[in-house]
Amino acid sequence: MVDRTHLKWFAEARFGMFIHWGLYSLLGRGEWVMFQERISPEEYAPLARRFRPRRFDAEAWVNLAREAGCKYVVFTTRHHDGFSLFDSEVSEFTSARTAAGRDFVAEYVRACRRAGLKIGLYYSLLDWRFPAYFSGPAKDPKGWEEHVRYSHAQVRELCTKYGKIDLLWYDGAWVPWKEGDPAVNSAPRGDVWRAAELNAMVRELQPHIVINNRSGTLEDYDTPEQHIEASPSGRPWEACMTMNDHWGYCRGDHNWKTTTQLLHNLVTCASGGGNLLLNIGPRADGTIPAPSVKRMRELGAWMSVNGRAVYGAGSAPFGGNNFGLTTARGNTVYLHVFYWPGRALTLPGVQPRVTSARLLATGERLKVDQEGDVLRLSGLPGAAPDRRDTVIALRLRDSARR
Ligand code: GLC
Repeated sequence: MVDRTHLKWFAEARFGMFIHWGLYSLLGRGEWVMFQERISPEEYAPLARRFRPRRFDAEAWVNLAREAGCKYVVFTTRHHDGFSLFDSEVSEFTSARTAAGRDFVAEYVRACRRAGLKIGLYYSLLDWRFPAYFSGPAKDPKGWEEHVRYSHAQVRELCTKYGKIDLLWYDGAWVPWKEGDPAVNSAPRGDVWRAAELNAMVRELQPHIVINNRSGTLEDYDTPEQHIEASPSGRPWEACMTMNDHWGYCRGDHNWKTTTQLLHNLVTCASGGGNLLLNIGPRADGTIPAPSVKRMRELGAWMSVNGRAVYGAGSAPFGGNNFGLTTARGNTVYLHVFYWPGRALTLPGVQPRVTSARLLATGERLKVDQEGDVLRLSGLPGAAPDRRDTVIALRLRDSARR
């Protein structure tokens, strides 16, 4: 039996905020800009001279997460471009040793702790500045070994310098799949990154840490990206998704999802027993684009009223139909009504006995009739009380969690 006590908070959190921020934010064309525009490390490095984020305010970021109802935050401590946002003994290419002169990870960790949010650190194993990454371990074993040691050393730093860390979000455990071909193979390669050894070290340093599945060993949970997919056999999972079409700040990307879409994504995750890690991409100066702030706050307004139907909630013993989705906690099933049916709602396939129904936001009681497995609620308001998702709480005679 796997011991999952360290995962309890994660399995109940349901909502986290992802932050993609780094040197690339200066260029405003996403976090892959260096690779996609074939910018050499020599051309890229001078960006560090311009990186002085005067308006960086870790508390403001973390407060936004809290306002949104997030329980944890994950911050890119170093992305594929190799620029560390922390002071490191194994790299000069860091925010601490260049123009900014600051350890942003330290500031971020402190802010999370103060706000009572769980602390997540994103770390990319690969670093595009290492030529060995592109030649691969077979062609350049020495250079590869140097890269692996450097990444292991940085993970050790992240696990020793900042006190208790709640979550480690690895990324980039690939190797270019044909040697010399810069196209990447997205399957993580734990063997060449020595992930088992790395994670054994991490767990020794941070016994309670939750680790994602992107270092090449399975670890604690799965990370479907830009789509929502429940993991088989009850493994914990977290869908990571952007609000527009980019992770890192992209000046030209105005393709924002609506708050309603984001909320439905969050509820979809909860209804499948998973979390949503929703991304923001602050500008290089540290400010967060207004559309992201607006959406986070609107989600927060909804969560402050309806959070009970999401936090710690999971799959219900019966699903939704064309009105929306269901979640469950204890002996309560929550109907998330996305598409308001009018004064009555009929739901077939309801085997458990329903003893009462009320609107979660106001406590207003609804009339319940149940004949066989067909549940009929009446006395609903004619128009949707919440146009995004009105929650109806059904009390069951017996426990509801599947
Ligand atoms: C991908 C991308 C990366 C992004 C991440 C978020 O692996 O390489 O840019 O940070 O996914 O899930």
